[in-house]
Amino acid sequence: MPNPFAAAPTRVAICEVGPRDGLQNEAVVVAAADKVRYIEMLVDAGVTLIEVTSFVHPKAVPQLADADAVFPAIRKRDGVRYLVLVPNERGLDRAIAAGVRDVVVFTAASDTFAQRNIRMTIAESLDVFGTVIARARAAGMRVRAALSTAFGCPFEGDVPPANVVRVARALLDLGADELSIADTIGVATPNQVVDVVGALLEAGIGLDRFGLHFHDTRGTALANITTALQLGVREFDTSAGGLGGCPFAPGATGNVATEDVLYVLRGLGIETGIDLTKVRAASRFIGTILQDRVVSRAFRALEAAAARETVGA
Ligand code: COA
Ligand code: ZN
Repeated sequence: MPNPFAAAPTRVAICEVGPRDGLQNEAVVVAAADKVRYIEMLVDAGVTLIEVTSFVHPKAVPQLADADAVFPAIRKRDGVRYLVLVPNERGLDRAIAAGVRDVVVFTAASDTFAQRNIRMTIAESLDVFGTVIARARAAGMRVRAALSTAFGCPFEGDVPPANVVRVARALLDLGADELSIADTIGVATPNQVVDVVGALLEAGIGLDRFGLHFHDTRGTALANITTALQLGVREFDTSAGGLGGCPFAPGATGNVATEDVLYVLRGLGIETGIDLTKVRAASRFIGTILQDRVVSRAFRALEAAAARETVGA
């Protein structure tokens, strides 16, 4: 039988989004010092790409209103990219003041979601990001661009892959270094992954320019990632413990869990440089504060197995 993983990468880059996407929808406000500790534990686990907070309007995402205090307090490690979301020039000013080196601008593949999330149409957001990206690059920053609702919109329903390609191309033309293509509400199925990845590749947007971001609302995230791996995709956003959700996407639950993805990648013999046991420690830490919101299946199974061993010892 031909190997279905023949085109899969030998190494995958994980972008850990727990401290940002994971926390942004949580009702329990986490203290700034605990956020810093959580971030440092994840980096200690080997994470080298991590979304740590957002410089957005404090009323839009109250949980991340302390971004100006959190970012400078993180003990930075060489070789680690600490990403923050910025929705506009005001966000970029705050990021620059905090010493940020890596920013993420974010828009959507559907207008209604863009308007609900950042109060701009796609076209307006591209206008704003033209200036934000130019200023960020002039300041020597690296710019990632996230593209929400690429597999479906909570307000508009189906999103044609051609729309994803059009906005993705526009973001790269504006100077974004890389893209994160997101299933914000967790509706995608593997055939859509084939369609969207295929459309990006056909448009000349190579595997070195984008990663994928899946929410697991309908339990399809790992199936989608498995399909993406078979297509050669080599970067994924994941959230420790499976925390996450967007306050502007009704009904959407958490991101695919870092632990679940690491478990599958380990089984496939694909390197990440991240220690699953240490990610579990970070999830255990934040899980205590969030009163047991850690939903990762691999986390729960491995924790239970460890507890049985301790009892048996
Ligand atoms: N940080 C702090 N304050 C900001 C800000 C930022 N990034 N951007 C705007 N503001 C302030 C302005 O200074 C202005 O204040 P003032 O009334 O005291 O003068 C006020 O907010 C209104 O500014 P405006 O540019 O009209 O913003 P808006 O109300 O249209 O909101 C966003 C636009 C993008 C700032 C807001 O929708 C937002 O922060 N969205 C983030 C959504 C998000 O994070 N979603 C989850 C991730 S996918
Ligand atoms: Zn997300």
